Amino acid sequence: MSYSFQIKSFDEYKSAYQRSVEEPELFWSEVAENFHWRKKWDRVLDWNFVEPKITWFQNAKLNITENCLDRHLKTNGSDPAIIWEPNDPDEHHRILTYNDLHFKVNQFCHVLNNNGVKKGDRVCIYMGMVPELAIAVLACARIGAIHSVVFGGFSAQSIADRLQDAKAEFIITADGAFRGNKEIPLKSVIDQSLVQCPFVKKVIVLTRTRTPVSMIKGRDVWWEDELKKVETMGNPDFPAVEMDAEDELFILYTSGSTGKPKGVVHTCAGYMIWTTYTFVNVFQYQKGEVHFCTADIGWITGHSYIVYGPLSAGATSLMFEGIPTWPDAGRFWEIVDKHKANIIYTAPTAIRSLMSFGLDPLIGKNLSSLRLLGTVGEPINEEAWKWYHENIGKGKCPIIDTWWQTETGACLISNLAGVTPERASWATLPLPGVQPILVDERGNEITEKGEDGNYKGNLCLKAPWPGILRTTYGDHERCRVNYFATYKDLYFTGDGALKDDFGNFRITGRVDDVLNISGHRIGTAEVENAINMHNGVVESAVVGYPHDIKGQGIYAYVIYNGKLDDENLTRQDISATVSKVIGAIAKPDKIQFVSGLPKTRSGKIMRRILRKIAEGEISNLGDTTTLLDPTVVDEIKNRAI
Ligand code: PRX
Repeated sequence: MSYSFQIKSFDEYKSAYQRSVEEPELFWSEVAENFHWRKKWDRVLDWNFVEPKITWFQNAKLNITENCLDRHLKTNGSDPAIIWEPNDPDEHHRILTYNDLHFKVNQFCHVLNNNGVKKGDRVCIYMGMVPELAIAVLACARIGAIHSVVFGGFSAQSIADRLQDAKAEFIITADGAFRGNKEIPLKSVIDQSLVQCPFVKKVIVLTRTRTPVSMIKGRDVWWEDELKKVETMGNPDFPAVEMDAEDELFILYTSGSTGKPKGVVHTCAGYMIWTTYTFVNVFQYQKGEVHFCTADIGWITGHSYIVYGPLSAGATSLMFEGIPTWPDAGRFWEIVDKHKANIIYTAPTAIRSLMSFGLDPLIGKNLSSLRLLGTVGEPINEEAWKWYHENIGKGKCPIIDTWWQTETGACLISNLAGVTPERASWATLPLPGVQPILVDERGNEITEKGEDGNYKGNLCLKAPWPGILRTTYGDHERCRVNYFATYKDLYFTGDGALKDDFGNFRITGRVDDVLNISGHRIGTAEVENAINMHNGVVESAVVGYPHDIKGQGIYAYVIYNGKLDDENLTRQDISATVSKVIGAIAKPDKIQFVSGLPKTRSGKIMRRILRKIAEGEISNLGDTTTLLDPTVVDEIKNRAI
């Protein structure tokens, strides 16, 4: 497949950008010509950010899997679609060609169909990083069911919340998952969540770890048994279900500053075009290259840059089951060498963590296949950028710093590999169709530069791109309030940013109460709610602080009512509670017991003060006179961890 929309030079970028802003409908209709449609659109774009209501490619009909699979079969059927590398280096890797993947997805569509899954049904997928996860995702898309993938590290309670919110009646899972030297008992976690979700009709269970599991008659079925039934049917072809451009493709839950995680909804056509367009341009993908995205499919990065973007572009996507540091910190480099990966796309956290092991893990690993290095998920510090550039890219590979969000579907601001200029720690320029603007607290555009010569403000977008979220599942008002109500006629990202005179952006981090722990988004309110579930806790306040490896760590201030004979044991109990309620990723790094929290007279917690103390900046806490009880600050300061 060739891509008429692949930008080849900085000048081409500039003219594409200009056209995308001046004539968006024409621009995107030309891009859309590169895809397979059952029926073309009546109108390219219709939108307002007030309701908000955004439709791309109105009344067009398609199925995204015909674009990710069927259309490649004739010319590229025997090309590898997915190369799968297992957790354990001693286990054999697997290669699924486009023919294989098409066959398996079709087979699994029959399994879904036989088990009662229909267009529009919500299917929760809770699996490790095995090829069957990608197969399950694509089979849902082919049959028109809305998938909601839940990261394998989330707890039973988190799954139950998501099942209830989406009213998902079907689950696809596995007995367990391998991650480093751990075995995660996925099915038994699902069983715990189902105690609260009697509406779930079917659970399809893949065999991976052979961890003993309970299988409930009438509800739980083995993936392999269901496949056997399909194998006796002969031709496994399953005609892709015709979808409207704006039919929901998937829900992915993500944290905000308030309440429980919200289900971000992406729709079929816009998301397909945006993931493919950005994949081809940002990564400058060339036919035959091996693309290694180290994310988990449980997060948006995996959805967009392991599954949908690469497969729609006919690429080879390398999928890894394990973690970067097991059996040792050379695992990524061994995989790059073994499969001759041309692209590696990972998070700054992983880079910083691998950096801490020094250069020994690189000995004997041939990384000469690499053409491009990418980062995503959090700001990358210059030291990590340089280490990546020098030791992994050997000074020759461009680095793309891709800024985007679950809500944006795919990259919005990034340099295009080797085509537009790169700059350490800067995401640089917006992609065609992306119109960023920096505003102040009142929503006025920032027009004056700061002392460092840059504009500084809250990052918003002025107009929709094809991959923008359409709603939050079951609660459109929440979508409006969260993203479109802070500033009139703007989508607010929740991030702060700098902009230089050339229009380059540097993302500085969240300006709301959302933490970014190892590139994963967690709301402070969510962690506080979890801590408060512990029976001895009266109240808590959670803030982020700079963490050498994770980017941000979680610092919790806790008012404790129970007996505190052994502070460390109680800390462990609180952590265990958070693990149970959310998952291990949300466990606090530091817990400080306090007798009170700094509150204003109206009862609002002054997080600014707590943040400064957590950051170790205790000498300059600003004005504390408006506090209800200013003495509490001294106590907190003196006992800071
Ligand atoms: O704060 C930004 C940060 O990650 C947030 C989005 O998180 P999530 O929806 O989980 O998606 C992560 C993967 C796309 C953003 O609001 N972020 C993402 N990429 C970058 C980044 N911060 C700085 N630089 C980036 N390249």
